[in-house]
Amino acid sequence: MTDRPVLIAPSILSADFADFGREIRAVEAQGADWVHVDVMDGHFVPNLTFGPPAVKAFRRHVTTVMDVHLMIAPVDPYIEAFAEAGADILTAHVEAGPHIHRTLQAIRGAGVKAGVALNPGTPAEAVAPLMDAVDLVLVMTVNPGFGGQSFLDMSAKISAVRGMIGDRPIHLQVDGGIDPSTAPKAVAAGADVLVAGSAVFRGGSVETAEVYGRNIRAIRDSLA
Ligand code: DX5
Ligand code: ZN
Repeated sequence: MTDRPVLIAPSILSADFADFGREIRAVEAQGADWVHVDVMDGHFVPNLTFGPPAVKAFRRHVTTVMDVHLMIAPVDPYIEAFAEAGADILTAHVEAGPHIHRTLQAIRGAGVKAGVALNPGTPAEAVAPLMDAVDLVLVMTVNPGFGGQSFLDMSAKISAVRGMIGDRPIHLQVDGGIDPSTAPKAVAAGADVLVAGSAVFRGGSVETAEVYGRNIRAIRDSLA
């Protein structure tokens, strides 16, 4: 399928919102490679989540990689605050404004790895001119805004982006509806970072964190 190691990035959008510190420590102890943080503004997407102070509070608990997915428009006025909050990766949507290249330069200029995300309705070609400006491309497999939606098969787009990346050290991430039945399709098409919210947190809690471990292993095993 691929010889690239595949990383699992649980989205804390599906965690207990009253207990983020313990939730983050629990998923990391149970095998998460990265922690995915979904920032929503109620404008670019029809839902509201976290601002920089919340992200800064999460940082104290993350020992892996804090992967911050910005579903906000505009992006540029908030880059410095999210960088100061401790994001390792900041991913902005190509649809969020007319100057995505400038946004990506500003993210790298703030000392953070830069990602660019594509909504399901946006073609792969939109990121072709950006390959030297990014460390990660995120192909959305749902329309952003909510956890627990059904996977949209974006295999052709994922393959096209994989071709554009070539030998560059750029991660290809997928986000939305990833579970043991859909993960193999995304990885076969060329993804190497799988975001999963409901499929990781489903059925567990910080008291029964071994369920998170089982859920993460079920995704990994589906790729074997
Ligand atoms: C959707 C978010 C996703 C979401 C994934 O807008 O970007 O990260 O949390 O949730 P699941 O895995 O439940 O589709
Ligand atoms: Zn996300």
